[in-house]
Amino acid sequence: MDYSINNLTLEEKLRLLCGADTWHLYDANGKLPQMFLSDGPNGLRMVKDGKTQNATAMPAIEAVARTWDPELARLDGSTIADDCIEKGADVLLAPGVNIKRTPLCGRNFEYFSEDPLIAGELGKTFIEGVQEKGIGTSLKHFCANNSEYDRLYQSSDLDERTMRDIYLSAFKKAVEAKPWTVMCSYNPVNGVYASENRWLLNDVLREEFGFDGTIISDWGAVINSARSAKATLDIRMAYDDRAFGELKKAYDNGYLTEDEINERAGKVLELIARNEEAKAIRKVELTKEQRHNNALKIAKEAVTLLKNEGGLLPLKDDGSKVLMIGESLYNTPMGGGGSALVQTDYPRVSLAAVMRNKIAEGRVVEGPRSYHDVAIMGRRMDMAAAADAGTVIIGVGETSFVEAEGYDREKIRLHTFTENLIKDIAAVNPNTIVVVYAGSAVDMSRWINDVKAVVLAGYLGEAANEAVASVLTGETVPCGKLTETYPLCLEDTPTGDDKGTPFCSEYKEGVFVGYRYYDKYNKEVLFPFGHGLSYAEFSYSDLTVEKKGDAEFVVSYNITNDSDIDAKEISQVYVGKRFSMVPRPIRELKGFSKDLIKAHSTVRVSVELHCDDFAYYNVSLRRRYTENGEYRIYVGASSRDIRLEGKVDVTLPFETQASQRI
Ligand code: GLC
Repeated sequence: MDYSINNLTLEEKLRLLCGADTWHLYDANGKLPQMFLSDGPNGLRMVKDGKTQNATAMPAIEAVARTWDPELARLDGSTIADDCIEKGADVLLAPGVNIKRTPLCGRNFEYFSEDPLIAGELGKTFIEGVQEKGIGTSLKHFCANNSEYDRLYQSSDLDERTMRDIYLSAFKKAVEAKPWTVMCSYNPVNGVYASENRWLLNDVLREEFGFDGTIISDWGAVINSARSAKATLDIRMAYDDRAFGELKKAYDNGYLTEDEINERAGKVLELIARNEEAKAIRKVELTKEQRHNNALKIAKEAVTLLKNEGGLLPLKDDGSKVLMIGESLYNTPMGGGGSALVQTDYPRVSLAAVMRNKIAEGRVVEGPRSYHDVAIMGRRMDMAAAADAGTVIIGVGETSFVEAEGYDREKIRLHTFTENLIKDIAAVNPNTIVVVYAGSAVDMSRWINDVKAVVLAGYLGEAANEAVASVLTGETVPCGKLTETYPLCLEDTPTGDDKGTPFCSEYKEGVFVGYRYYDKYNKEVLFPFGHGLSYAEFSYSDLTVEKKGDAEFVVSYNITNDSDIDAKEISQVYVGKRFSMVPRPIRELKGFSKDLIKAHSTVRVSVELHCDDFAYYNVSLRRRYTENGEYRIYVGASSRDIRLEGKVDVTLPFETQASQRI
């Protein structure tokens, strides 16, 4: 089929810039093949003829991120692509790489991290995984869409260095995967809607980042089609009956030239042509069971052991009773709500049901599902059962009604009933284990010291309890690590409960978001960025830093598994400059490695650092700038568990430098 712009009338070109309906692109009265766009980041959420299709509910992106494994992110993408091929979706509207600025954000479960390196690296391989199967993606939400509160009106106001070093950085990395589309966000950025922000869409995304695909809007994000086309947005989604008139009027009055219309329509035709070409490689390669097994594989590596006092976990094969309490263990949330909520026909299995197949018959005892049940049933929680059990497992967390698109959480503590339940149980049984099913940070400070173990399941999709049970029984050695800080309380976070005004959210903390913030202000946290325990113990040693160039280094170190079990360890490399001409975070993640280390053996890990790893965006020089001087290298098991420390000297040529009085 000839996708030449010359085959189209002016009206057809203008209509090409608008969606044909909620999910389809315009087909120029059959002159063009029609394209179907579908959500989402946690699995295919396809609405066809008004009916949501079943698909594999994969672990949410927040969980995929906790694997710290780019290849598992790729597997995630390729698995979802299989569902897309089977159901006929051409573009998957994912991944979201927005930075988790506040734990209140209702869509944090759809995003990777508070850190742009993780978000960019895993977003990139997710896109590659999807597109290797011939399905397109939509990197979203471009940009600075970091809360749901008032998202259609509230302008994200941030300085250029913060924008570039934190909020654009993951997009720049993910664009390397050549996503078919980028989706602009709803919100204004510094007072101009993202959908008509030419500096962002054209100057930064297209010209600086080299994005050569098609820019689509978020659904309903365009205020005026003419202004958006002028800013180089290509497609207004979804269909809006005002769009054509706005474009036609702008053309007639000269605001939009024919060249500009042809350029925008050309990008849409490129997308359609790319889609047609890609159909040739599309092949359903996985059975539903294989997709489920991929979901389980990822989920197992996402489970994060936050606390394990006295080695309570894994559960001992001692024949003692395991009492299981709490709604989340039974009606386990698979993900958050909104456009990312996947409908699966995979049977929901409770943690108790799975555990019964893994530990001796009769050990599993099912207790009340929630404090509400107990209160409603008018009887105090059967504390005798709790006291009698060898261990008690309490399932807590949020749900797809609490964490969802379109609104933020009001608090990060659990319901008082739930907190009381945990404390009451722990008071009669010290061997209490809490399993948390939530898509973003939870304030555990009221009860964390009462319990011996805390396992963060998060939103693990349809395989959630198979993965959790596998870790609880020791079948899987946990290796997940946090990609967002768990603060002691909401008040300790950079924004607290401040949602800004209905018209503006000022990013006053600048680049100091997430661990960068807590480190700068030396704030204690509940669990730091990068934290996650194992059933094994690891020791780090023999740090060397080899200088390969003016600002090129190879950081190498040993990790020894001092235990009797094989296990995986995620080590992290941070860089910091104590004396700088601008305020800088104490340390910033610049590399990481995930290694399987056999029992009582040692691996030598090497992480390369390049010039840009030492840089920040200098607004005066209008570029990424690496200052000469001494930098500290931190190797850690988390951002706060630094095991090795070194320093390097960056010695770039005179002409690259501004003067320093340091
Ligand atoms: C929603 C979301 C976006 C989604 C789109 C289509 O409002 O913001 O992430 O892909 O609309 O459902």
